[in-house]
Amino acid sequence: MKSFSLLPLAALASGLVIPDAETAQSLQLQDNKPASIWDSVPSREQLWTDAEELWTDAEERVQEIAGCAKHKLDNAIDAAYETAVKYDESFQTAFAGEDWLANTEEDEDLVDHPPHHGPPDHHRPHHPPHHGHGPPNQTVYELISKSKYTTKLAKLLDDYPDLVEQLNGTKANYTVFAPTDSAFENIPKHAPKPSKEELKKILTYHVSPEFYPAGRVLVTRTIPTALDAEFIKDVPQRLSTQVGLRGLTVNFYARIVAINIFGTNGVIHGIDSILLPPPKAVNIITSFPGEFSTLELALYKTGLFDAFNDTSKHNGGTLFAPSNFAWQRLGPKINAFLFSQHGLKYLKALILYHAADDITLYSDALYKTEEATSFPDHRIPKGLYHIDLPTGLEGKHLSVDIGRYGRLITIKINGFTRVVVSDGIAADGVVHVIPNVLIPPKEPGAAPLVADDTLTVEELKQALAPLVDETETSSFDWEL
Ligand SMILES: *[C@@H]1O[C@H](CO)[C@@H](O)[C@H](O)[C@H]1NC(C)=O
Ligand SMILES: *[C@@H]1O[C@H](CO)[C@@H](O)[C@H](O)[C@H]1NC(C)=O
Ligand SMILES: *[C@@H]1O[C@H](CO)[C@@H](O)[C@H](O)[C@H]1NC(C)=O
Ligand SMILES: *[C@@H]1O[C@H](CO)[C@@H](O)[C@H](O)[C@H]1NC(C)=O
Repeated sequence: MKSFSLLPLAALASGLVIPDAETAQSLQLQDNKPASIWDSVPSREQLWTDAEELWTDAEERVQEIAGCAKHKLDNAIDAAYETAVKYDESFQTAFAGEDWLANTEEDEDLVDHPPHHGPPDHHRPHHPPHHGHGPPNQTVYELISKSKYTTKLAKLLDDYPDLVEQLNGTKANYTVFAPTDSAFENIPKHAPKPSKEELKKILTYHVSPEFYPAGRVLVTRTIPTALDAEFIKDVPQRLSTQVGLRGLTVNFYARIVAINIFGTNGVIHGIDSILLPPPKAVNIITSFPGEFSTLELALYKTGLFDAFNDTSKHNGGTLFAPSNFAWQRLGPKINAFLFSQHGLKYLKALILYHAADDITLYSDALYKTEEATSFPDHRIPKGLYHIDLPTGLEGKHLSVDIGRYGRLITIKINGFTRVVVSDGIAADGVVHVIPNVLIPPKEPGAAPLVADDTLTVEELKQALAPLVDETETSSFDWEL
């Protein structure tokens, strides 16, 4: 297609939306504030308000789950589940699938509506309101190729007979995140045109071989796609979903503008942006200087940038990325020390403590541990899940607790630090943003040192000294 060209921006591909420091602090939670007003239809406003209340309630439940005693756990999980289901129902009602693109365009005659009696969705007790006529009688491919809203996508797909065959076949019940024609208009005119091969990767990244109707998307944080992760062997590249002020989004930037267009072999959701396969984790860090410039500087000064950048050295991985705010909280003395000539080896140890090579831990999925192979679809079991992640710092683990029911998730590290933005999807792993720098406890289970300006340089040195290679003299001689 002549007019199609690729956005060169890595930043767009990861599109992390990071709350400012204060919000992150007060939330101490995830990125999941529901949209309060989806659009201007009054009855929906009410629905959203209700949904928002439910959501707040559910968040509290999850907090409870994370904090409550064992015997209360089941109750809390049940309660959270009920709330999540109610939320889900409100959401479905507020956002019935019939409004195929009504959000983006006023359209009197939505003649190419597919029927809506799709395959059963086991994650919801009720179906959203339907106005279709009978069960679906077209494949997802046929729906895309006949819809007047997806003509550009259809044209692109037709260049790839194997993709067409897949999406028109019955090998799986697919989920397609279908960029609408207006999504293509957002591409800058002078952006370089992708090769045919790149374009195929991009298209494949819009397809999941798993069946994710809207209700399931809503209770899911990450979704496997048909695209293999570029730098993680035998692992599908995942998408992440968010519920935020912009509604339901994919990879933080693509808004879902239509849901549950069912075909005989799957379901389509319309999105308002093209999804680009994500960049490497280091590129996510360097793309957001407003959030990560300190971490970036630390990577360069310690010489770790190259190690992180070299994907032949790790097969997937998890990076807990302290925001600039997290570094600031340490106060000027510790920062001055860490970034000084003498402090660099401590800084290096500290950074290594934030990264787990080879194990990719999404908030709801896990790859490349023995245990994970027993999880269906690599999905982390609901409820509370604990994992000790070996870090780049020899012999030191991060103790990670995930409290999850559906979309409601908290991730706590070393019993104290909560992830504020989870599931920044990378080509070589995943990035979670944290509001504190993590400091290794003296012994496993010991109370973690609080990484704020009450911490002294001596305490920090003591915590890291056994782990720092004293013989190593830094060859980096950069001024801060
Ligand atoms: C598919 O179903 C719709 C009603 O849902 C109907 O109008 C249409 O004629 C059917 N098409 C075919 C090819 O059967
Ligand atoms: C798609 O599959 C339908 C049968 O489900 C078939 O009639 C149609 O010709 C196929 N289209 C393409 C382009 O292969
Ligand atoms: C697709 O979903 C339908 C309805 O739930 C089911 O009967 C069928 O076996 C599924 N197909 C595949 C390939 O999973
Ligand atoms: C990072 O690695 C890529 C190869 O994957 C290489 O092209 C690039 O130059 C490296 N970047 C830096 C700053 O070393």
